[in-house]
Amino acid sequence: MRALFITATGTDCGKTFITAGLLRHLRGAGIAARALKPVVSGFDPAAPQGSDPALLLEAMGEALTSASLDAIAPLRFKAPLAPTMAARAEGVRLTLEDILRPCAAALASATGPLLIEGAGGVMSPMAEGATCLDVIAALRIPALLVSGTYLGAISHTLTAYAAMQAAGCAPCAIAVNESEGSSVSFREAEAELAAFLPGVPLTPITRGEMDFSPLAAACGLLR
Ligand SMILES: Nc1ncnc2c1ncn2[C@@H]1O[C@H](COP(=O)(O)OP(=O)(O)OP(=O)(O)O)[C@@H](O)[C@H]1O
Ligand SMILES: [Mg+2]
Repeated sequence: MRALFITATGTDCGKTFITAGLLRHLRGAGIAARALKPVVSGFDPAAPQGSDPALLLEAMGEALTSASLDAIAPLRFKAPLAPTMAARAEGVRLTLEDILRPCAAALASATGPLLIEGAGGVMSPMAEGATCLDVIAALRIPALLVSGTYLGAISHTLTAYAAMQAAGCAPCAIAVNESEGSSVSFREAEAELAAFLPGVPLTPITRGEMDFSPLAAACGLLR
């Protein structure tokens, strides 16, 4: 079973944009890919449209219902904070097991590639005492690191890569997602990263990217 954990150098880097793009590409190729967003914060139950789970369901061609929401994003919290803090605001103390349980269940029942979107950046707290990186390490599935071309992205990317490598979870690929209003040229940022990360697959994603075939291949989702 192919699976991929989608993490990033930080929040708003394009994890959902890229996960949805991969889902559409794979499903368009007849591959029954599905997504899971185990924990989502900043989720307004009165207006779920446009949320990460809603966008992922749309990319899967599924209607937004309470059942489909429960399946794709079982842990949903209102405050636009890191998951631990958003959960605590509702009197919930998230454990690592709370996050791993739905991931393991989705992995066990998957009939095609499963794309799991993290929350925030690679070391954002996902549960009490556990970052996103701890979740990746516990799941033991390949991870995609989404980075950007915003000023400071190279340092964030190299830091994230080093942390992932140290935890034995070096990313299988890095998606260099062109940031809005980037002050660094897209190609220049990619070339700079390549010089520091020789041999690491870097896949450019332009603004409004439509072709997710190279990224799907780089992540081994087409095999
Ligand atoms: N390559 C791109 N082209 C056009 N828009 C993009 C691109 N990448 C990201 N965006 C847009 O930027 C915004 C932030 O991206 P997105 O929601 O995918 O980030 P995220 O990493 O999933 O954030 P979060 O940490 O909240 O889950 C969204 O409006 C998304 O549509
Ligand atoms: Mg997202």
